[in-house]
Amino acid sequence: MPAAVRAAKVYKVFGKRAERAVKDLEAGATREEVRAYGATAAVIDVSFDVEPGEIFVVMGLSGSGKSTLIRMLNGLLVPTSGTVEVDGTDITRLKPAQLRQMRSQKVSMVFQHFALFPHRNVLENTAYGLEVRGVPVDERQHRAAQALELVGLKGWERNLPEQLSGGMRQRVGLARALAADTPIVLMDEAFSALDPLIRRDMQTQLLELQSELGKTIVFITHDLNEAMRLGDRVGVLRDGRAVQIGTAEEILNDPANDYVAQFVEDVDRTRVLTASSVMAAPIPVVGAEAGPRAALRTLRENQTSVAFVLRRDRRLVGVVHEKTIGPAVRTGQKSLDGLVDTDVQRVSPDTSVADLFAPAAESSVPLAVVDDAGRLRGVIPRVTLLAALAGNGNGNGAETADAGHDAAAAEPADTSRTEPDTAEPADTAEPAEDADASDRPAAGADPAETPAEDPADPPPDTGPAPPDAAGEERHGGQGAAR
Ligand SMILES: Nc1ncnc2c1ncn2[C@@H]1O[C@H](COP(=O)(O)OP(=O)(O)OP(=O)(O)O)[C@@H](O)[C@H]1O
Ligand SMILES: [Mg+2]
Repeated sequence: MPAAVRAAKVYKVFGKRAERAVKDLEAGATREEVRAYGATAAVIDVSFDVEPGEIFVVMGLSGSGKSTLIRMLNGLLVPTSGTVEVDGTDITRLKPAQLRQMRSQKVSMVFQHFALFPHRNVLENTAYGLEVRGVPVDERQHRAAQALELVGLKGWERNLPEQLSGGMRQRVGLARALAADTPIVLMDEAFSALDPLIRRDMQTQLLELQSELGKTIVFITHDLNEAMRLGDRVGVLRDGRAVQIGTAEEILNDPANDYVAQFVEDVDRTRVLTASSVMAAPIPVVGAEAGPRAALRTLRENQTSVAFVLRRDRRLVGVVHEKTIGPAVRTGQKSLDGLVDTDVQRVSPDTSVADLFAPAAESSVPLAVVDDAGRLRGVIPRVTLLAALAGNGNGNGAETADAGHDAAAAEPADTSRTEPDTAEPADTAEPAEDADASDRPAAGADPAETPAEDPADPPPDTGPAPPDAAGEERHGGQGAAR
């Protein structure tokens, strides 16, 4: 399968002597040097692939070239050099009519400044992409209404854009892209006009939509936390160049240079790191078939007061506590029947660390990280959670846990001990407070992106987009969700 979107050595230079500027940049000239003769290098030698179904986030400060880059992905701008492929087709070679067709079938875009038609109501704006495609009026209104409901704008169908707040208009832009139902959606700062709570809601909705509908999404933001939350992979742009492309965790844990490192300093790690990245090997464990005597031996050897009880296929049954095992051994009980405490907090490997605090606070034993099949993948003692917050939570990472899987058969008595005491004393105050703190937006992460009150944002133009009209896309381009 070809990449959904591929950019290969893409340059976009505005202003004078663009071609020459590309040559000079290739030969090592800086942005400032080409600027001296009137060329603005907005995007410089950027290459990446976006796989079908992936959310690829492009992040960078204002002016780093994000909007320019995303506009090249649907042909609203033509690269000065390099190629852009959509679904295997080099779109830089398409004729305007082919380009329009490609957009209406494959790529919708949510614009940074909404680009709504002022004289069309919300429903008509939302149905626009379908209208362009010639979808009959009943069907397009039905689909537009559905999309509006999805973004929480049911009841606003007949209002005009000017009667909506900035955040609501942004949601209309999103609804329009959703209604168009293309496999690829480009989103330029699509959530930046929303207040934090709605914004988080929309992010969650986007993630859900993406996993339900499998859309390929290229999402632009200058909010690092948003980038890290949404992106399967994130590309960091600086002054037009891609300085790092990787998963959120790669960028966080292994920044390519000081610039990226400074950028990620403020990131809320608890939203990026997941249970699987901070979990420890599940030691000790006891086989469900074992008797109290073997269980007690395991506890003693590991100098701990609790052990996880697993079936042979590693499905988690619960935990045993020394305080109940000891007496059972003395009374000569032969099986663990009635001794296994099944009240264990289970979390999935993908749970963000931020969402682990509440279950951890409620549990006196480590959290159990279980996969879809209910198998124990690792455990998270509260100390590990605190260490992850402090930025060194990967010491007992996934590898260790995997090693644990193999080692831990029904008789894991000889496995060595990695956690001093898996049963942490209940001390809920601290983690809970930290969890609260994690809800704060990181300082400086989201410089006010003031969505201009719309007169400054002229309506989209309905005509065919001149593929490289530099002025045109400053004007909301060729309308929206095409
Ligand atoms: N049509 C244009 N003509 C001339 N220069 C342009 C044009 N569009 C963008 N630029 C320049 O290209 C650079 C990148 O702009 P771009 O809009 O892509 O940045 P951005 O990362 O989207 O910024 P923001 O976060 O503010 O939206 C800037 O220096 C900008 O001035
Ligand atoms: Mg922009």
